Amino acid sequence: DAPTLPLSPAAAVAAARPGRVRPRRMRGTAALRRSVSEVRLHPADLVLPLFVKEGLDEPAPIASMPGVVQHSRDSLRRAVVEAAAAGVSAVNLFGVPLVRDAVGSGATDPDGVLNRAIADVRAEVGDALVIQADLCLDEFTDHGHCGVLTADGWVDNDATLVRYAEMALVQAEAGAHVVAPSGMMDGQVGVIRDVLDAAGRGDVAVLAYAAKFASVLYGPFRDAVESTLEGDRRTYQMDPANRREALREVALDIEEGADLVMVKPAGAFLDVLADVAAVSTVPVAAYQVSGEYAMVEAAAAQGWLDRRRAITESVLGIRRAGADQVLTYWAVELAHWLREEWR
Ligand code: PBG
Repeated sequence: DAPTLPLSPAAAVAAARPGRVRPRRMRGTAALRRSVSEVRLHPADLVLPLFVKEGLDEPAPIASMPGVVQHSRDSLRRAVVEAAAAGVSAVNLFGVPLVRDAVGSGATDPDGVLNRAIADVRAEVGDALVIQADLCLDEFTDHGHCGVLTADGWVDNDATLVRYAEMALVQAEAGAHVVAPSGMMDGQVGVIRDVLDAAGRGDVAVLAYAAKFASVLYGPFRDAVESTLEGDRRTYQMDPANRREALREVALDIEEGADLVMVKPAGAFLDVLADVAAVSTVPVAAYQVSGEYAMVEAAAAQGWLDRRRAITESVLGIRRAGADQVLTYWAVELAHWLREEWR
């Protein structure tokens, strides 16, 4: 005999009257869902990071970032034209020099790989697209750190600021619309702002890598720039455990004159991103970094994830958490998909 229930399932359903309030109602068709999307992706939300290597004749693949290349001088120009045509709002340039030294001399050489690339790109696209320049020494130093070192190997904050200020002036001269200090030195935004202003370059904006965490997810990037770093960056990048501290870094950078602030990486730090977006008085960028890219590409290559949906959902999540702009290696491909869906 079936047990006598105190309340039959059918009676429970009837009593709950789920028919009155039905959140599923607005999910019934694609058109209904589209009409109530809280967040939409647009090509202009996207920023494409690009690598250019000195001395290359042809673009070279990056093993841990399938689909991403180190550009030659010529292929970089083509890539930027393609990005502009796809509707992305900006490119973010990284240089890979052939020669490195203790102070990263190549970073401030107007003929250095990055500065030449900035000038090339500016000549190619003018103001049709925003040209952001990575402002950091790690690609240019032989020890691979983001700054210059003291005799006992400590990254010397204030000596590094001098190099960053010099770099900002050269990048501005080369044609960068935005310089993006990514080294997490204290005071970097203020010093760069003051030096640019004093040089009459108040037109050049500063995108501050405000909350940049010491993350394992930069691994593939270090292949991309052939980083020589031994050890880690934990004495200057933030501890991934720290959420509140991100707000302190953001407040300092805004006070120092940052025009945009960034949270990086994005996907594993969406709580931080949401916090920052809630209080920032300047636009907020988020960087979907090389490791985030590599994880999805690897899973998709195995057939374990639907690649297009994984990419779209990951970037949507970053926007939903509050990013105004997303730096992503998928920017151009995603921009094409978005236009295709819109048509
Ligand atoms: C430092 C810099 C890094 C990245 C962007 N700028 C590497 C690091 O801090 O070690 C990582 C970007 C990525 O992983 O996609 N110049």
